[in-house]
Amino acid sequence: MPTYQEAAQIIKNASHVTVFTGAGISVESGIPPFRGENGLWNTYDPIFLDIRYFHANPRESWQVIKEIFYDFFGQAHPNAAHLGIAQLEKDGYVKATITQNIDNLHQDAGSIEVYEYHGNSRNLICTSCGQKSPASHFDLNLLPPLCIRCSKILKPDFIFYGEAIPEPAMSLSFQETEQADVFLLVGTTGEVMPAAQLPHIAKRNGAKIIEINIEPSLYTQQITDIFLQGKATVAITNLLEAIEN
Ligand code: APR
Ligand code: ZN
Repeated sequence: MPTYQEAAQIIKNASHVTVFTGAGISVESGIPPFRGENGLWNTYDPIFLDIRYFHANPRESWQVIKEIFYDFFGQAHPNAAHLGIAQLEKDGYVKATITQNIDNLHQDAGSIEVYEYHGNSRNLICTSCGQKSPASHFDLNLLPPLCIRCSKILKPDFIFYGEAIPEPAMSLSFQETEQADVFLLVGTTGEVMPAAQLPHIAKRNGAKIIEINIEPSLYTQQITDIFLQGKATVAITNLLEAIEN
């Protein structure tokens, strides 16, 4: 398969490979994507993840957040794509993974350098004093959860629409993007800014773009050099085989 061989050669010759992932990499772990077939936004109104709506209607917002992110994500385990990326980092081919996902599956798979551009659902953060606590410490049948320290409302420690990208993830992701000579995109539409700009910046800096997706994304025609069409678990497994042979 020339494309896998080509992609493997580019990665082996690279000096700084950065991985950039979206919801598509976690679909085979049982977590629905946001867009496309079975997309969460086909069922739920994104308004429940708008920060102004959350502050005005914390209970209603939390009921939907619990259903989407805690009832679904709870049992999810890393799949062969997450594990393959962790292996590439361990073998020295990948320097870091920038993810838009909040499911912690890259870390669960063993990836070390993971920059969570949209935060992480595993912790809750107090809307008043900023205290962070594991979501597992709270009974999410009693909503909204309240801060142990100041009794104010807690929110998941991932960004809502209308919130700023968290630091240090934003700066570290930007540094990665500046240094990368190869960007490996896995399972993202490229629709949501500012995260979606990172592959474009890498491309402008001369990086090679290798993309894995089940169907073309906004990147494919615009910046992708090698498009490995297919499910993330299959494509990453094929890519590892091509690199190791
Ligand atoms: N393997 C590879 N790619 C897949 C798979 C799969 N098994 N299943 C779906 N995809 C692809 C889809 O073709 C699509 O391009 O994954 C992408 C999923 O798109 P989105 O759900 O829009 O995910 P993402 O691009 O990460 O969304 C960005 O939008 O709502 C916000 O904060 C949320 O981080 C999210 C951001
Ligand atoms: Zn507090």
